[in-house]
Amino acid sequence: GSTLSETLNSCSNSTESLNVSNVVNETKRPKIHKKKKKKKLTKLSLPDEIKNEPSLKKYWVQRYKLFSKFDDGVRLDKESWYSVTPEKIAEHIAERCRCDIIVDAFCGSGGNSIQFAFTCERVIAIDIDPVKLENARHNAAIYGVEDRIEFICGSFFDLAPTLKADVIFLSPPWGGPEYIHCDTYSIAAMGEFGEKAFQLARNISDNVAFFLPKNSNVDELVRLAGQGKHVELEQNMLNNKISTLTAYYGDELIDWGGNNQFTDATNDDTRRLDDTGYAADFELQDSLAEHSSFSLDVADER
Ligand SMILES: C[S@@+](CC[C@H](N)C(=O)[O-])C[C@H]1O[C@@H](n2cnc3c(N)ncnc32)[C@H](O)[C@@H]1O
Repeated sequence: GSTLSETLNSCSNSTESLNVSNVVNETKRPKIHKKKKKKKLTKLSLPDEIKNEPSLKKYWVQRYKLFSKFDDGVRLDKESWYSVTPEKIAEHIAERCRCDIIVDAFCGSGGNSIQFAFTCERVIAIDIDPVKLENARHNAAIYGVEDRIEFICGSFFDLAPTLKADVIFLSPPWGGPEYIHCDTYSIAAMGEFGEKAFQLARNISDNVAFFLPKNSNVDELVRLAGQGKHVELEQNMLNNKISTLTAYYGDELIDWGGNNQFTDATNDDTRRLDDTGYAADFELQDSLAEHSSFSLDVADER
């Protein structure tokens, strides 16, 4: 099979294509009339942050992928339009993270927290930005789950030592949509949102899910697990394309059931190391599935 880096590289240049269909009317007059009417309606319904920022229009077209209940009044600020986790992916991650208490350390406008509320007994949703937190609360109410979420406005870096939870979910800022233009997204370059956030999370629970760009540096993610420990890397698909990467750490989060798991007991003969120095003998699972996942063993120090 292909290596993870090959897979990631082959995907790093893909552009998200939007499926906009235009209705063409045969007769001339109604056509003009209809077109005008449609334009007006679209303009009227655009929220201010989209009207003022043409680059956000591509996210607007995908609004129901972000929130299926978008029309019930979902609120997003400018930054959230490109940083919210699309609902299908958030739903999938929430299923993987099913537990009693989960911390959503960087909850933003609630894309993940809302889905966690369906699979976890209690969600602690943290964000430093009061506007986003208020939007998250409002959006959670639309989904009828605000009572299951405790919203805390503050910095995860300050709050982390006070938290107790079974699972920590990390979706820190990636530095804006520009990340996609790098060949490889470096965890080190995330500054405190990378290793520091991860280690703080790990002090709360061994079970950490880290939501990252699809072109993230796999070597760094494997090393985060620590010597002899495991990470499962999962490519999340949207529109039939790999869109993001979720790294699962901790015995309770890692899916040990697949055929492509490596453990310390894995026979060295069956473990193939590629030239970047980590075990990369994995298979992508059925790519027809909404989500593909694979795992690899942690590198020994090399
Ligand atoms: C990528 S967004 C999260 C999006 C979220 N997963 C969703 O689906 O809506 C990252 C969030 O981290 C928040 N943030 C930045 N620094 C923070 C900090 N020190 N502590 C907590 N939240 C922080 C930002 O305000 C932003 O909302």
